[in-house]
Amino acid sequence: MTNKPRVFVTRAIHSEALAKLAAEAEVEVWPEAYPPSKEVLLAKMGSVNGLLTMLTDPIDEQVIARGTPALKVIAQLAVGYDNIDVAAATRHGIPVGHTPGVLTETTADFAWALLMAAARRVGEAEREVRSGLWQPWGPDVLTGLDVYGKTLGIVGLGRIGKAVARRARGFSMKVLYNSPTRDLDAEQELDVEYVTLERLLAQSDFVSLHLYYSAEAHHLLNRTAFEQMKPNAVLVNTARGAIVDPEALTWALQTRRIAAAGIDVFDPEPIPANHPLLQLENVVITPHIASAGKETRQKMAMMSVENILAGLKGAPIPYCANPQVYEPRGT
Ligand code: DGY
Repeated sequence: MTNKPRVFVTRAIHSEALAKLAAEAEVEVWPEAYPPSKEVLLAKMGSVNGLLTMLTDPIDEQVIARGTPALKVIAQLAVGYDNIDVAAATRHGIPVGHTPGVLTETTADFAWALLMAAARRVGEAEREVRSGLWQPWGPDVLTGLDVYGKTLGIVGLGRIGKAVARRARGFSMKVLYNSPTRDLDAEQELDVEYVTLERLLAQSDFVSLHLYYSAEAHHLLNRTAFEQMKPNAVLVNTARGAIVDPEALTWALQTRRIAAAGIDVFDPEPIPANHPLLQLENVVITPHIASAGKETRQKMAMMSVENILAGLKGAPIPYCANPQVYEPRGT
C-alpha cells in the first residue's frame, strides 16, 4: 500500500503525461478502447481521489455523489464537458478541469478539411479510384462546389469559430456569424458580420458549427433549419453531434435539400453501421477526430494531468470549467 492519492484514468493517454501523473499518484488506466460503463465508474468511486475522463464517459450526479468525499478533482481530456454534470460537481465542491485553447487551431484546420472535402467530393472521388473506377478526365467528372469568394456562416464565434473565420480570409470569403452574444472586437479584427441564425442559414454557402452543446443547442439544426438553408449549402459539424437532429440531416442530404455535409460528430457515437447516412455520397464523415493532432493530444493530456495534480493538492486547478467552486459558500 502506498499513501499516494489514487487516480482513475478512463483511457490510455500519452505516455509522458501518464509518467508525470504516476510520479505523484497511484494510477489505474482503463485498458479498453470503449469507455468504462457507468457500473464500472460507480464501482471505482469512493476509493479514487482524481478522475481523468474522456468526453464519452457519463459523469452524472450519481457518479459524482458516489465519489465524494474522497474525490477531489475531475479532469476532462477535451475542451467540451457536456458529459459531466458540472453543476453537481460544483455542489459537491469538486473542480472540473478541461483543455481549452490548446486544440483550437487543430480543430479549425479539421473543420476546413471537412468543408473542402465535402465541397469538392473528395471522399466520393477517393472511393471511385480505390474501387478501380478512375474515370478519364472530363469536363463534368466529379464537379463540386467552389469555395473561394463564397459566404461562410459560423454558428458560435468562440475560440474555434474565430480560428475558422481567420482561415476564411485566405479564401476571400464573406463571413457571417451568430453567437449568443455579439463580439464587436472580433467583428473589427476578423471582418465578420453578426446576423440572426435565420439569416445566416438563408445566406451562407457553408455553415460551420462551433458552439458548446447545451439544452438550448439540442437539435438547433432541425428540419426547419435545413429548410431555411440554400440548396447548394454545405454543413460542417466539428462541435457536438446532438446540435444537429440526425434524422433531419439524413433527410436534408437524401433529398438534396442541402448539397453536402462534413461531419466529425454524430448522435449517437459511434454511428450505427447500418445508418442510412452511410449510404450517401454527399456526406464526408469522420469519427470525432477534429482535435486529433499528435502534438495537440499530447498537450491535452498534459493539461489534464496538471489539472489532476493541482486538484489532488487542493490548489486551484489551472484550466477550470467551474471556477465558482472556489468561491466562498454562503452560510
Ligand atoms: C473537445 O475537446 O471537446 C473535442 O470534441 C474533442 O477534442
